[in-house]
Amino acid sequence: MKRPRSDARSDKGPVRVLLFAASLGGNSLNKRLAALAGVVLERHGARVDRAAMAEFDGPSYSQDVETREGFPPGSQELHRRLQACDAFVIASPEYNASMPGHLKNAIDWVSRIRPQPLNAKHGLLLSASPSMAGGNRGLWSLRIPLEHLGARVYPDMFSLAQAHKAFTETGELADRPLAERFAQSLREFVDLVEAATHYPCMKKAWIDFLGEPGETVGRVDAA
Ligand SMILES: Cc1cc2nc3c(=O)[nH]c(=O)nc-3n(C[C@H](O)[C@H](O)[C@H](O)COP(=O)(O)O)c2cc1C
Repeated sequence: MKRPRSDARSDKGPVRVLLFAASLGGNSLNKRLAALAGVVLERHGARVDRAAMAEFDGPSYSQDVETREGFPPGSQELHRRLQACDAFVIASPEYNASMPGHLKNAIDWVSRIRPQPLNAKHGLLLSASPSMAGGNRGLWSLRIPLEHLGARVYPDMFSLAQAHKAFTETGELADRPLAERFAQSLREFVDLVEAATHYPCMKKAWIDFLGEPGETVGRVDAA
C-alpha cells in the first residue's frame, strides 16, 4: 500500500507552519517564546498559523466517549490545522519533568482521527521555564508520542532557561548570542521543511537518513 505523504505539495509557495504554546495560562512564558518564534519564522519566509492550546483542549481521552460522541471540537480543530500545514512548532511547558497532561491528551485524541495528521509532518520543539534546564526534559518526553506517530521531530530543540528573566520589554531575548542561536535553529528548521516539501530528492534523503522505509505502513497507521 502506498503511504500517503502529508508533506507533499504541488506548489512552491511559502511553507506553512502551525505554531502554538502548549500552555493554558494567560501570563505564559511559553506563549512569549512562541510569539518570538512566530516573528522569526515569518522573517525567514514561512507562513505562520498562530494557535492557542485552548483551541485544542478537551475532555480526557476515553474510548467510550469516542464511540458514543465522536471527536471533541478541540481535536477536530487540531486535526484541521495540522492537515493544513507543512510543519508545526510547539513551545511546551515542562510539568514534573514531562509534558503537560493536556498536551498529551490532545495528541492522543488527534492520533485517532484519520488521516493521522502527525505522520510525516516536520516538528520543532521549544520550551521555556524558570529553571536552569529550561524545561528540556519535557521536550524529550514530547518527542516520544510525536515520533511514534511518524512526525519528523527536528534533532535540535531550544529550551529557554530562567525564562522569567530572559525577555526584554519588547519580547526579544535579552542575551544576544542566545537570540542568534534561537533564530538560527528556526531558520535551519524552515530550510529543512522547504527542502522536504518542495524538493523530493531532499525529502528522500531525509527519510533514508532516518532509516525509515519509504512506502510501507508500519506501526503508524497512516490510512
Ligand atoms: C504542575 C507543575 C509542574 C511543574 N514542573 C516543572 C518541572 O518539572 N520543571 C520545570 O522546569 N518547571 C516546572 N514547573 C514550572 C513551570 O515551568 C512554570 O510554571 C512555567 O512558567 C510554565 O510555563 P508557562 O508559563 O508557559 O505556562 C511546573 C509547574 C507546574 C504547574
